[in-house]
Amino acid sequence: MHLPRNHGFSHPRSSEITPEAVYAARRDWLRQIALAAAGSTLSTWAARDALATATTPALSGVRSTVAGAQTMEKPTDRGDATGYNNFYEFGTDKSDPAEHAQTLRTQPWVVTVEGEVKSPRRFDLDALMKLAALEERIYRLRCVEGWSMVIPWLGFSLSHLIKAAQPTGNAKFVQFVTLADAQQMPGLGSRVLAWPYVEALRMDEAMHPLAMLVFGMYGQRLPPQNGAPLRLAVPWKYGFKSAKSIVQIRFLAQQPVTSWERAAPSEYGFYSNVNPQVDHPRWSQASERRIGEDGLFAKKRPTLMFNGYEAQVGALYAGMDLKRFY
Ligand code: MTE
Repeated sequence: MHLPRNHGFSHPRSSEITPEAVYAARRDWLRQIALAAAGSTLSTWAARDALATATTPALSGVRSTVAGAQTMEKPTDRGDATGYNNFYEFGTDKSDPAEHAQTLRTQPWVVTVEGEVKSPRRFDLDALMKLAALEERIYRLRCVEGWSMVIPWLGFSLSHLIKAAQPTGNAKFVQFVTLADAQQMPGLGSRVLAWPYVEALRMDEAMHPLAMLVFGMYGQRLPPQNGAPLRLAVPWKYGFKSAKSIVQIRFLAQQPVTSWERAAPSEYGFYSNVNPQVDHPRWSQASERRIGEDGLFAKKRPTLMFNGYEAQVGALYAGMDLKRFY
């Protein structure tokens, strides 16, 4: 990896980490040192990225007209967006997903839609992709750890799927359950999170046109490390709300507990809206480092309220105390 390794993220307190997780982290670290010593980290990575890019099928979409779905900012280099990832099912190191996720089997892929819906359904990926025209949207992704990227996604508003599912009047939340297959995902051996990784949105958040079901990025299908074959992109929330490799979408009457809330409730709330005024208990959220421009002395950028999407989504939270509902 050619990116600085420490972006200010602190892993969960050591008391929350099992000996296996500690052991795995140390093993990964030793492997990195071994690779670096062999002088092969960069070339191996570059070669792997070139191969992955060449073998990922192309995908295209129309330019989105959804308000806020375009930004004039220059997209992050694809290599950075596919090489510096959080996908704990494949390990907790930023380079683990690119290294270990390539064997993820994304075909066949079935997504079940269930819970408080008039007609529960099973979609295969092709059927799901046909629910609406694919659009290209360029979103900022702000990770809770203090870094950000600008990514051209391909997909459509989640609201298309919600309308097709016909939720009942009881449906107040939408939960996203992701794949947890220990055979394919070496990170599941670690107890750093409870598996499967689950996330959720309030119904009106999920219906907001900016909340996106994503199938591709940079003109291609999603690579495994970015959540193939299907993930969320919720640009006004911290990156961890954007669940990867979704297999189940459940409509619920009650607010569910998410993976990160369960792991550290005082640090990660249900809403997790990007908010420069509400610091994480262990670090500030007031500024961010844009991946790709982060030389050691590069100035950080100020983080914007709702990640810069306040005009579009601010009304969803009118009257809410965002310090309390973090
Ligand atoms: N989804 C799953 N299933 N597992 C994860 O560990 N990490 C989240 C989110 N979705 C994660 C996940 C976090 S912390 C971030 S910042 C984004 O994915 C990163 O997405 P990216 O790697 O495409 O930038």
